[in-house]
Amino acid sequence: MTTPAPTTSADAALIAGLPTGFRWGVATSAYQIEGAVDADGRTPSIWDTFCRVPGAVHDGDTGDVACEHYTRMPSDVALIKDLGMDTYRFSVSWTRVQPNGRGFNPAGMAFYDRLVDELLAQGIDPWVTLYHWDLPQELEDAGGWPVRDTAYRFADYSMLVFDALSDRVDTWTTLNEPWCSAMLGYAYGAHAPGRQDYPAAVSAVHHLLLGHGLATERMREAAPRKIDIGITLNAATAYPASDAAPDLDAARRADGMGARLYLDPLVHGRYPADVIADLAAQDIVIPVQDGDLATISAPIDVLGINYYFSQKFTGYAEDGSTVDAAGLPVVRSIPLGRDRTAMDWEIVPEGFTDLLVRISKDYPGLPMVITENGAAFDDVADASGFVADEGRTAYFTSHLAAVASAIEQGADIRGYLAWSLLDNFEWAYGYEKRFGIVRVDYDTQERTPKQSALYLRDLAEQHRNR
Ligand code: FCB
Repeated sequence: MTTPAPTTSADAALIAGLPTGFRWGVATSAYQIEGAVDADGRTPSIWDTFCRVPGAVHDGDTGDVACEHYTRMPSDVALIKDLGMDTYRFSVSWTRVQPNGRGFNPAGMAFYDRLVDELLAQGIDPWVTLYHWDLPQELEDAGGWPVRDTAYRFADYSMLVFDALSDRVDTWTTLNEPWCSAMLGYAYGAHAPGRQDYPAAVSAVHHLLLGHGLATERMREAAPRKIDIGITLNAATAYPASDAAPDLDAARRADGMGARLYLDPLVHGRYPADVIADLAAQDIVIPVQDGDLATISAPIDVLGINYYFSQKFTGYAEDGSTVDAAGLPVVRSIPLGRDRTAMDWEIVPEGFTDLLVRISKDYPGLPMVITENGAAFDDVADASGFVADEGRTAYFTSHLAAVASAIEQGADIRGYLAWSLLDNFEWAYGYEKRFGIVRVDYDTQERTPKQSALYLRDLAEQHRNR
């Protein structure tokens, strides 16, 4: 690999601000990298189906081939090792383990067995995510996450994976970003399964959280030794546009639906009263049954935080009104006026610090790990395939500094996993948006570490050796 990126005083400061034993790693998810969608008994998930809906995914891209990680796994693990990362967070494809959402498929499970062995052989700590959005299509046909039974199906599936890997895997995440599964999948239709039914999405939130709780309780009971179990949320800071009451209320609503709707039941065992009232005003009731909140708030050991950007909210429409056509209060995001990534997301590192400090105050005693953070930029590769990705590298610097600043203000943050190891299938954006620290040439499947990968490698090394 080429010359290390130079270390600046900003790097030295952030290295000094991160605690000893801090994890350095990279993250991926199954459908985004594996390909081999028909191999060894795997059947379609909601994403295989969604990709075939005309217009659903940019350019009609699918995960059929993706990064061919299923067959290239050993060399991808060697790459993680070369990059000096100590942790690898990956997700398990539900329909490899349970084709059609039923039974048990040892041939599909065997892939993850090999992956875990390979990681351990290279001295890399495996971190399993059980659900990164790929629900078996049959379970969607039976109603999907809006239906209560899906929570029980998820817990059963989780135990199959746990029984197979918990002898070697110490850290487990139940769900990745339930907000995305529920809201993008069932309310806005931007993600699989592409439904647009807001009450159904609210039911999905509850059943995702219930599935998390059921799986957590069962894994805890079956744990052969000390195992860390948690969930990963995507959260952000919702800044009010001004101190005017409609702006403050818009920020409260955005924060309620985006963060507190998940954190409050998980940590405090209750849904936030203001969010319940907002939903009731739309005749929406969260379908809670006796005992659910005790299950959802089963103790966890680690809270995963995925952070990309924050937003500012106003309660005024462009015409100045405070209610929309449906008579609901306006909640509108407006620009903070920052530089943007290729996703058109504003770059707001202080929103990261504010978020982490706020969680550590409102939900104390919960160690956090950054389970995803990163940025897409319009990469330009040179003839050798190398990308001098200054923008992404700067994003990592500013966001790691934001983490160090949160730690300085008392947040308990134990590690940082960059999104993502590889350029990959970025959901509805297909292969157009590149988040990798390693470039993938999709014609040849050649992998080339970008400047940001070498930068993170050097930071991690300097941090370990400081
Ligand atoms: C997160 C997802 C991840 C990836 C990044 C960019 O919301 O968890 O799979 O798409 O965004």
